[in-house]
Amino acid sequence: MKFLTLLEILADGKFHSGNEMGQELGVSRAAIWKTLQKVRKTGIDIHSVKGKGYRLGRKLELLKQDLILKELSETDIAALQQLEILLSVDSTNNLAMRKLQEANLNLQDGRVYICLSEQQTDGKGRRGRVWQSPFGCNIYFSLIREFDSGVARLEGLSLAVAVATVRAMEECGISGVAVKWPNDLLWQSRKLGGILLEMKGDVAGVCQVIIGIGINISASVEQMKEVDQAWVNAETITGTHVSRNLLAGKITKHLLNAIRQFDESGFAGFKQEWESLDAFRECAIEVSNAGKEQKIKGISKGVTDTGALKVETRQGLRIFNGGEVRLKSSI
Ligand code: BTN
Repeated sequence: MKFLTLLEILADGKFHSGNEMGQELGVSRAAIWKTLQKVRKTGIDIHSVKGKGYRLGRKLELLKQDLILKELSETDIAALQQLEILLSVDSTNNLAMRKLQEANLNLQDGRVYICLSEQQTDGKGRRGRVWQSPFGCNIYFSLIREFDSGVARLEGLSLAVAVATVRAMEECGISGVAVKWPNDLLWQSRKLGGILLEMKGDVAGVCQVIIGIGINISASVEQMKEVDQAWVNAETITGTHVSRNLLAGKITKHLLNAIRQFDESGFAGFKQEWESLDAFRECAIEVSNAGKEQKIKGISKGVTDTGALKVETRQGLRIFNGGEVRLKSSI
């Protein structure tokens, strides 16, 4: 019996007895019990009460392709080469990279491959960090798109992705989200999500970009106990249930639109909106420039037309194409 079939019965958060589920699925109670142990191993909280049966610690909205596709226009659907939903994967970005290596994807004419997973066992953050990815309660999304004019034209793409993601969240009632250069999504200084871009191909010609997006939706403190920075989930912000399917659909829609816009005019068309969302604008900050030199302090002054960070230092205006930014109380 399939793990997913059982989860679908339990998803309503109500009690279901082993007998009832066995009858519904045409299997023995022992088979149900065995599958429940597998479900438990993923970290999903299952309560069992004598005489009542089993129920999930809370309601679960599983990711469903039809609900995600509902948000897309005909043009968007035509651009989808594949939309894959997995129960578990090491990392959706890694899966996307493997798909590229298999080389049987048809990404011509701007078509995209998208995958989402209920869980990641080896989720990746920027700079080699771990991205906590518990089952069934967040968004782990990756998209592959081919670009044919070299990586230099892709400057600012990750910032445009952040803008598209904020637009999608706004449409789901998640408001007040800010961006932190280069591509963190924050709410009241707490991390709500992150973006990780990876590339393959020719730096001067045709290259494929993997756009990975992770957003915390309803993960609990217990599930995120290893996160070592202030974080928040979308349901804390809205105070109500946030549909992962709706948000995944909106992200797909806004990302496809943003990529079309980026193809036309690069980051310049997103600059103003990005700056209006900038969490650190006019703040005292410190940039550690990928270990190249000591930390640079200054006032954050927004971004250039290609998405590089502008910082007013004592020695004048400095432009950063990479690095880590931290708030300082003064410069
Ligand atoms: C960051 O450090 O802020 C970036 C986090 C990116 C996480 C997403 S989740 C989907 C995709 N798969 C991964 O392994 N990472 C990205």
